[in-house]
This record gives sequence, structure tokens and C-alpha cells, in this order.
Amino acid sequence: MVVTTNGTTAEVRGRGAGVAGIGSAVPEKVLTNFDLEKMVDTSDQWIVERTGIRERRIAPHGVATSDLAELAARRALEDAGIAPEDVDLIIVATVTPDMIFPSASCIVQAKLGAGKAAAFDISAGCSGFIYGLVTGAQFISAGTYDTVLVIGAEVLSRIVDWSHRNTCVLFGDGAGACVLRPAGGGDGIISAVIGADGSRGDMLKLPAGGSLLPASQDTVAGRLHYIHMEGNQVYKFAVRILADASRQALEAAGVTAEDLSLFIPHQANRRLMDIAAERLGAQDKVYSNVERYGNTSAASIPIALDEAVREGRVKDGDLILLTAFGAGLTWGSTVIRWCKDRLK
Ligand code: UT7
Repeated sequence: MVVTTNGTTAEVRGRGAGVAGIGSAVPEKVLTNFDLEKMVDTSDQWIVERTGIRERRIAPHGVATSDLAELAARRALEDAGIAPEDVDLIIVATVTPDMIFPSASCIVQAKLGAGKAAAFDISAGCSGFIYGLVTGAQFISAGTYDTVLVIGAEVLSRIVDWSHRNTCVLFGDGAGACVLRPAGGGDGIISAVIGADGSRGDMLKLPAGGSLLPASQDTVAGRLHYIHMEGNQVYKFAVRILADASRQALEAAGVTAEDLSLFIPHQANRRLMDIAAERLGAQDKVYSNVERYGNTSAASIPIALDEAVREGRVKDGDLILLTAFGAGLTWGSTVIRWCKDRLK
């Protein structure tokens, strides 16, 4: 595996790591663009034209990120034929943990009964799942662990300002999970690119509830416990970074877009995905379910990958490119040679 971080490349020696099982979970409740028309000054036409989103899922009251994460994880473990007791490490990528601490991953560990596993969360916004894959793969490469559960899970509906049309039409809830296991040379995660530019952090943030602005009547009155985003600025950044990070990951893997079977960009906005695919020359390889789920942040890529696998879009030996951008600002991209059925 070759890993590039903010431009510096290193070859990770040791075992490879591949996806041995995959699963996802979304809440049943559907919120359509027509429902949103009754809540804010928007229209189905505006939302579809600007984003491609038609509907999103919303978790019911009392259902937390760990609940969706647990369900996705159980499905991934079942797919891999692995018992929760055999998991060595659980990584949950999320910006909507059940609470500030304990981590969502510790709550998931208890719910799964995965008593042997270490557990921690990753906060890298919508790039979190790719950060999680790279991190988990390196524990496997080093020989520290054999079985790593990487989960991307979000209940974004709790941090969306439902009176703010610029953001509330974009997001949804869901979770996806992968079981990583040792893989042979050339299989599994071949290359990965991760990066961050903290100087742009103000473009996408949840301002209050942390140590800088703890919850107070003022923060609640100022609506500071909701997502604040400069959509246009994030869009411009995303257009560039989706293509750049993807190209770097392809180059590090020693392959081209032509070799790909599938390109799964972060499911944020259909226009963004299409522009990135066009720049790469992978227009006919894009997988999209953004129309049904909206932007589920760290969950978007594993949900899409799970659906693509279930639809028969991914076959043994296929090369898949996953690329994300998100709060931080962060980005991540990885090239995977699919070998799931050979890891059982
Ligand atoms: O995972 C990372 C998360 N972030 C993102 O993915 C965000 C990336 N950015 C985007 O996807 C796009 O910037 C948006 C979809 C958020 C917005 O699209 P846009 O084409 O950049 O629109 P805009 O922000 O420039 O707004 C254009 C107009 C504005 O009206 P005026 O000022 O021109 O009169 C907005 O007020 O559209 C208006 N507008 C809306 N109108 C109807 C903004 N939101 C809505 C809405 N319905 N929901």
C-alpha cells in the first residue's frame, strides 16, 4: 500500500488489507423535497437541479449514531462471516457521535459485544470513512490486528438547522461499515491519499458545544449548534480536490481511470460528482445514490459501496476508486482491488 499525505508519499510495508465484509443501514423514514417545500422556501426543482437530491432518510427520535452504526456493523460482520468477539479494532468515523464522550466506537463496541476490540472515533468530516480505512489498513499491515471494523455513521438531522434552506435540503442520516482483513499483495487497498487544510476550517463547521463555545442560552439563541457552511466556497474547493486527490491515488496505485470499474465519490452533490468524473475521464463509472439519501457525510461512501456490491456492480478483481472531501477541510482517496470473496 502506498500512502500520500499532503503531498508526501510513503510505501507501507507488510501485509495488505482488503474488505472482507460490507453492510449498511438507513432509517426507514423518508423526507422528500416536496416535504421540504412545506418547511422552508425551496422547491423540488431547485434542489434537484443544484444537487441531484430527491429525498433523504431521517432517524426517529431516540435513534442515535451508534444504533445505525451497530446495524451496519452487524451486516458487515455477517457478510464477512466473522463474530463480534473476533474484532480487534473498531473505528467509527463521524461528526455526530451520540455524545462528546465516550466515543461512538466505544458505545458500538458494547452494543456489539466486541469485548476484545480497541475502539476510537475519527473526526475528519465527510472524508472520515477514507481516513478510517487508511488507519485500519495500517494496523493490519503492521501485523498488530487481523480484523478491523471501519464504520462511517451519522445522524446529521440532529445538527441541521431545519429553518435554513441553504443547508437543510442537503443532508441525511445513515451508516455503512466494512470489515478489513489481511489480503495478498496487489489485492485490497492499493493506494491511499489523505490530506487536510485547517486554514479553511471556517467554511464548514458546527461552532458551539465544544470547549471554545460551550452550550449556553446565547449559543442556543444564536443557532450555533447547527451546521454552518459557506456552500459556494466548499463547492469550489471540492471541484478541485475531488479530481486532484483521485489522480494522486490512481498514480500511486500505478493505474489510470481507464482501468477502473467503479468511481464512488462522496455523495454530496450530483453536479460535483459528474464534474470530478469528467475531469478524470470516468464519466461512465460513477456510482450515485445521492438522489435517495442526500449527503450522509462519513456514511456516504460505505453506503454507496455496499449498494453497488449488492447490485452486482463490483466483481472480483475490479478496481474501485473512492474519493471524499469534507469538514476540516479534509480529503481522502483510495484505490481498492476488490477481493472480498477471497478473504473468507
Ligand atoms: O460534504 C461536504 C458538504 N458540503 C457540500 O457538499 C456543499 C457544496 N456546495 C454545494 O453543493 C452548493 O454550493 C449548494 C448546493 C449548497 C448551493 O448551490 P449553489 O449553486 O452554490 O447556490 P448558491 O449558494 O450560490 O445560491 C444561489 C441562490 C441564492 O439566492 P440568491 O442570493 O441568488 O437570490 C440562495 O439563496 O439559491 C438560493 N438558495 C436556495 N433557493 C431555493 C439556496 N438554497 C436554496 C434552496 N432553495 N434550498
